[in-house]
Amino acid sequence: MLPPETALWNFVEAAARDVFRVYNFHEIRTPIFEETHLFARSVGEETDIVSKEMYTWEDGLRAADYAVYKKWITTLYPSSEMFRRMDPDSALAQTPIPALSIELHGKWNFVVFAYRLTYQVLMELKLALERLDKDKRLFRIVTAEPLPDNFRFLVGDAPVITERVSIDSVPQWLTLRPENTAGVVRAYIEHKLWERGLNKLFYIGPMFRRERPQKGRYRQFYQIGAEVIGPPSAGSESPARDAELLELLATFLDRLGITGWTLQLNSIGCPADRASYNEALREALKPVVHQMDADCQRRAVTNPLRVFDCKVPEDQPIIEKLPRISEFLDEPCRKHFEEVKAILKSVGVEFQINDRLVRGLDYYSRTAFEFTHGALGAQNAILGGGRYDGLSESLGGPAAPGVGFSIGEDRLVLALKESAEAVQRKPDVYIAPLGAGMDREAARLARELRRHDIVVELGDEKFRLPKSLERASKIGARFALIVGENEVKAGAFALKNLETGEQRSVARGELAESIQAEH
Ligand code: HAM
Repeated sequence: MLPPETALWNFVEAAARDVFRVYNFHEIRTPIFEETHLFARSVGEETDIVSKEMYTWEDGLRAADYAVYKKWITTLYPSSEMFRRMDPDSALAQTPIPALSIELHGKWNFVVFAYRLTYQVLMELKLALERLDKDKRLFRIVTAEPLPDNFRFLVGDAPVITERVSIDSVPQWLTLRPENTAGVVRAYIEHKLWERGLNKLFYIGPMFRRERPQKGRYRQFYQIGAEVIGPPSAGSESPARDAELLELLATFLDRLGITGWTLQLNSIGCPADRASYNEALREALKPVVHQMDADCQRRAVTNPLRVFDCKVPEDQPIIEKLPRISEFLDEPCRKHFEEVKAILKSVGVEFQINDRLVRGLDYYSRTAFEFTHGALGAQNAILGGGRYDGLSESLGGPAAPGVGFSIGEDRLVLALKESAEAVQRKPDVYIAPLGAGMDREAARLARELRRHDIVVELGDEKFRLPKSLERASKIGARFALIVGENEVKAGAFALKNLETGEQRSVARGELAESIQAEH
């Protein structure tokens, strides 16, 4: 991305920061890469993003140590499922190293393989323990790290024997963030952000997805996003938060002069109704699923909602006839959606209900939305978002309902009517030093003028005057300021207005004012 294009990006980002400021949002900066399983668990294994599009790698230095760990464990536990999963020939080969594996082994009720005891691994362990039979909790934990202080708190008083493989460092599977909601919720849990009540956060930055590049779709793209998250007692669940975000978005797009957008709105249900909806989808898919593409067939079983993401044209008539989530919303969920719509009507933000909109990420519940724009062709979603009330808990955190959006900044810039030239600030003045020793004088003048917020471009004493004037016009400067020996002596300089051609002598102390006056 090069200038002057970058001026458009700055224009958009400055407008976003202004809007976030008046809605009282504050910036969060999350890492560009995170541990792989954060995305796998939040965005969902069956989504296109996680199953096909992530840039994932095993951190090189640590891999060697991991090999030691693996060797050690495969000697002790030759049949360990954990390592079978890593076998390149296994069906689950794409799954990164499982962070945690719990298995039945001989006299031990469970052997827990947890190479690293990260916060997330411990949370996974906690969730797994809750599912296990209480009186069978006798553990052998095989890890490369010492048990952390809060370990007892997590496992209760179950008898635990630990076996530590002593190696210094640990391997990690890392992924370039394909989106940022997971990172924000991870930060919410890690930094106990619930203590702050309702968090209204925004971010601007690059995301990465291995997609086939085309206009409006890139492997490194930029998002401007916001998340509202907090404990239920802070009002995080309220439909007023959803509506406020949507109204913010309408304000932002209006402010950028982007017209012709459509807000597509849906409710994709609460956990209570999701199960019955999934059941209905499975039922409806049963007689037809064998006609579908292999990916869709698998999804029909593992995660039927993801069937809506199937892109194969022949599958579309089948998808068209599937039951709609709108018919399955339970009462609280329906009411929540009604209230979102009512507030939008009261603030005058128009929307279209689209009951086929399910979004391509697993963490959503209730409100889901996209803003589309006619001028963008195939990649017409300028932004997307929705509610993710259960996400924090599924990552091992406390209940923390949330709602957010991410704008595709690349697509937003494509939809702008403004040209890069129009938003880029041109130099106010080009200083043309004439002759030996004048670079020093020019530098002093430039310093004085820049203190007055005047944009100055400096020439070079070796240039002859015509060359300097030509360059000044080329870069679009409004004035040329000529700095020669005589001018310095007199303390007054020739200031040439490059639009009118008019030239006059201006005293040093009045230069800044003269340049600013004719703006
Ligand atoms: P998403 O729908 O996956 O949602 O992405 C949001 C927006 O990012 C899209 O509408 C699109 O404008 C842009 N985008 C996605 N992929 C690309 C690409 N390859 N090239 C250019 N632009 C792209 C999310 O990412 C969620 N985190 C949104 C959210 C925030 N939900 C709740 N909070």
